[in-house]
Amino acid sequence: MSFLISQLQPAAVVAALPLSTSSRWIVDESGRRVKLACVNWASHLETVVAEGLGKQPLDSIANKISSMGFNCVRLTWPLFLATDDVDATAFSAITVRQSFQALGLNESVAAMQVNNPTLVDLPLLQVYKAVVASLGDNKIMVVLDNHISKPGWCCSNFDGNGFFGDRYLDPDLWVRGLTRMATLFNGTPNVVAMSLRNELRGPKQNVNDWHKYMERGAEAVHAANPEVLVIFSGLSFDSDLSFLSNKQMIQLSFSSKAVFELHWYAFSNGKQWETGNPNRVCGAVAASFIRRGGFLVEQGWPLFILNLNDNRFLPCMVALAAELDVDWAVWALQGSYYVRQGVVGMNEYYGLLTYDWCQPRNSTFLQRISALQSPFQGPALSEISPYKVIFHPATGQCVLMRSIFEPLHLGPCNETRAWDYTEQQTLTLKGTLIMCLKAAGNGEKVGFGIICSDYASKWEFISDSKMHISSKLTYRQQQWLPVLGCWFRWKQHNNKPLQMHWKR
Ligand SMILES: *[C@@H]1O[C@H](CO)[C@@H](O)[C@H](O)[C@H]1NC(C)=O
Ligand SMILES: *[C@@H]1O[C@H](CO)[C@@H](O)[C@H](O)[C@H]1NC(C)=O
Ligand SMILES: *[C@@H]1O[C@H](CO)[C@@H](O)[C@H](O)[C@H]1NC(C)=O
Repeated sequence: MSFLISQLQPAAVVAALPLSTSSRWIVDESGRRVKLACVNWASHLETVVAEGLGKQPLDSIANKISSMGFNCVRLTWPLFLATDDVDATAFSAITVRQSFQALGLNESVAAMQVNNPTLVDLPLLQVYKAVVASLGDNKIMVVLDNHISKPGWCCSNFDGNGFFGDRYLDPDLWVRGLTRMATLFNGTPNVVAMSLRNELRGPKQNVNDWHKYMERGAEAVHAANPEVLVIFSGLSFDSDLSFLSNKQMIQLSFSSKAVFELHWYAFSNGKQWETGNPNRVCGAVAASFIRRGGFLVEQGWPLFILNLNDNRFLPCMVALAAELDVDWAVWALQGSYYVRQGVVGMNEYYGLLTYDWCQPRNSTFLQRISALQSPFQGPALSEISPYKVIFHPATGQCVLMRSIFEPLHLGPCNETRAWDYTEQQTLTLKGTLIMCLKAAGNGEKVGFGIICSDYASKWEFISDSKMHISSKLTYRQQQWLPVLGCWFRWKQHNNKPLQMHWKR
């Protein structure tokens, strides 16, 4: 379990756009915190068409995104979509039909004719705009993500799209493409941010050029469209922003618009998740995440994290994302691809939607991330002063208490009670001072007490991940006393570390 500071927010509040930053927070025009809870939607593969438009009508997809609780889409685009003034391989004027046919995807033409007939003969850039517009109609904000240059599946160290100076990443062309996209969406309020470049990488990557070109790209975007946030990704597939801690910070001519982006996948940590003690792995991985970029939050910069829908590390990721209360995006919306890596109609196992784009692939997963979709804290969220909630990352729920006579249980975080974690390490119901969590006995569910000065009311953090607290029944007898129903989960797991998380 983790302790979070919260001011309990209703989930969907429509932001007064445009957005800007205030210290580590993204805020709207009224200064109120807006939390970006985004899903990635790929539109950068060979077809240069947003995936899924052969499966479902555009508006229906946009509507599903909203009904899954997201307020934002990270919509990818390949640079060559926006560079046809200088580049013969450019795509903006090709129609969807032509793009599909050139790839031998006649079935996709037919499918699109059924589900999105008005889009089939539009140029690719117009279709991209139509997707943005439909998201806007559904009150969904959009982050334009320059994912790659040459359309296709991304990313490898040697695909020519990795770093400035690579075959397909000419800095001048990149700046022109960014400028064109920024200009094109100037005046489109739901385009709230532009991510300069996805996952820089490869043998050419270096910190000096990162500063040189990323700052230039940011200035170009801002000049063409001063409303959008400008998002900076790091090196090594955007797993690393650590160079910003000792080197100079980014230097820009404008302020209150810069956000950093950091990617976090289970495979960033190799086999650790498969073989290691999850508790220790989580502790180590969280520390590494802070070193690689999480520290930026402390330094007063907003951080936007991208993660994969992957069970191995989900509780750990959810715990950290909740605690830092960062803006985030999950990979990925698409249940399938027109064509990916040469495979026609490929299934996306990480897709939030099913192969036919009809419904959520896994409602359990959605429930687990749902608490992260609302902000826990930040400027102007609530009149109520912040308090602590007790969060259970493995389910995405919070500890609830209906009455002191009923056991504690898990439920929606918006229905939780407010807690204090005192200097004496007691957990009291806020405002009561005398109602505290109390260990009842080894193997018993935790209860409530009104004498909060004894050992059984004192809770200490005990694990690497800081996901566990324990209490001692007496001076000598130290016991694991996981809270409430989670005890049984612990038992089922054969004494493997509990996926419970309490944190300051
Ligand atoms: C795809 O459709 C085009 C136009 O209708 C046609 O010329 C072409 O032969 C078709 N290709 C295949 C593989 O069926
Ligand atoms: C659904 O997601 C949950 C939580 O992420 C996971 O434990 C479960 O295995 C997933 N189910 C399927 C069918 O993938
Ligand atoms: C909490 O959120 C759920 C949906 O997530 C909603 O159904 C419920 O009404 C909310 N409860 C309160 C007290 O706002």
